[in-house]
Amino acid sequence: MSTTSRPVTMEKITNLCKRRGFVFQSSEIYGGLASCWDYGPLGVELKRNITEAWWRDNIVAREDMVGLDSAILMHPKVWEASGHVEGFTDPLVDCKSCKQRFRADQLSGPKCPECGGELTEARQFNLMFRTFMGPVEDTASTIYLRPETAQGIFVNFQNVLNSSRMKIPFGIGQIGKSFRNEITPGNFLFRTREFEQMEIEFFVKPGDDAEWHERWKAERFAWYQRYGIRREHLRLREHGSDELAHYAKGCADVEYEFPFGWSELEGIANRGDFDLRRHSETSGKDLSYFDEETRERYLPYVIEPSAGVGRPLLAFLVDAYDEDVADGEERIVLRLDPRLAPIKAAVFPLLRKAGQPEKALVIRDVLKQHFLVTYDQAGSIGRRYRRQDEIGTPFGITVDHQTMQDDTVTVRDRDTMEQVRMPVERLATELRARLAPPAPPPHDVDGAARAAVE
Ligand code: GAP
Repeated sequence: MSTTSRPVTMEKITNLCKRRGFVFQSSEIYGGLASCWDYGPLGVELKRNITEAWWRDNIVAREDMVGLDSAILMHPKVWEASGHVEGFTDPLVDCKSCKQRFRADQLSGPKCPECGGELTEARQFNLMFRTFMGPVEDTASTIYLRPETAQGIFVNFQNVLNSSRMKIPFGIGQIGKSFRNEITPGNFLFRTREFEQMEIEFFVKPGDDAEWHERWKAERFAWYQRYGIRREHLRLREHGSDELAHYAKGCADVEYEFPFGWSELEGIANRGDFDLRRHSETSGKDLSYFDEETRERYLPYVIEPSAGVGRPLLAFLVDAYDEDVADGEERIVLRLDPRLAPIKAAVFPLLRKAGQPEKALVIRDVLKQHFLVTYDQAGSIGRRYRRQDEIGTPFGITVDHQTMQDDTVTVRDRDTMEQVRMPVERLATELRARLAPPAPPPHDVDGAARAAVE
């Protein structure tokens, strides 16, 4: 399906996000802060469900992965060693008339795209946010907000090795905030100055890197489909040699077809031994690995699947957005994977009398011990279903006249709108089964995951 035949637009998504409490503009009452966003009550649940799915599938379910949570502030030498002080730059030009700034590599002509004015020569602009540690604001106390979580993993490589029983090949994953002073942020959550990343650094023996790179490309490409993104809206794009980051031997992006075009969700890079070598040289600490079996010592190579959180979240929302007709009325429905949906079920009394609200509240409270469940008694039952459809709640549980006689309820499916009647005592088990995590593919992903790419 192409973008043009989909009902979704960025305007519809941003309106829905604001109206229903997924995402708000940061500091909105002061006019907002450009490219910074706050996750509201539903957005924070969706974000947590995405990061938890990632953590469960990539750390908990695998024998060859461990997790880490390193500090955002790091020794300034880290960023010298990593090449970010010198090389993490974009070419910047200023308009001499209107004073606006642009990325030189994104301009189509020699003049200012806003006012047609003359532009300055391009100069390199470092994307790292700088601040000072302690009370003295001088060069010696300059530190940076990390522009990627990856470096926290590299500088802890020996710590993890010494404190765990991990043997190569193995990986370290972490989720955390990163910051980049982007010159041209935009497209809602797509390019922001503060964002979260889900990163894996997977350490392999040199020579095994090409094979592991292929495996991770296949695994990560399959992951987005496992949580509902349609295959035809995803592609894997290999970088040309002119696009590669300063550390990368090779890279492929998982791209999604957003309403504004195909764009990167995640990069899967082969970083070679760049980072461990640079940190060994700069710190003077030996970061090599001794293989007990082969009696060889080497600097491991690194395969890095690196995703944001905001971009996948936006892709899950865009892909789930649909409009159709239910009971003769138009509805917006978010067909989110139930495991990602912010609220798992809504409980409704059909009538606001005859003991039905009290019964519905008891059901809500019992289910709330297991899942995020809401209660709604306002308006017609049709309107209540619509409200939940719009935020992607997969199950609607209705208490009616029959409930009061035989302790059964109807469970409505958001997507098919079919209703089945079931005993109240079966609800928790039934919902738990429908919300169970997918069986992960065998982590030797040659089979299912690879087939998904081909
Ligand atoms: N450690 C490697 C690294 O950071 P990257 O391609 O610069 O690689 C990885 O970033 C991912 O982080 C991207 O695929 C994207 O999902 C997310 N990301 C990067 N910059 C971002 C920004 N300004 N706003 C939102 N997400 C961003």
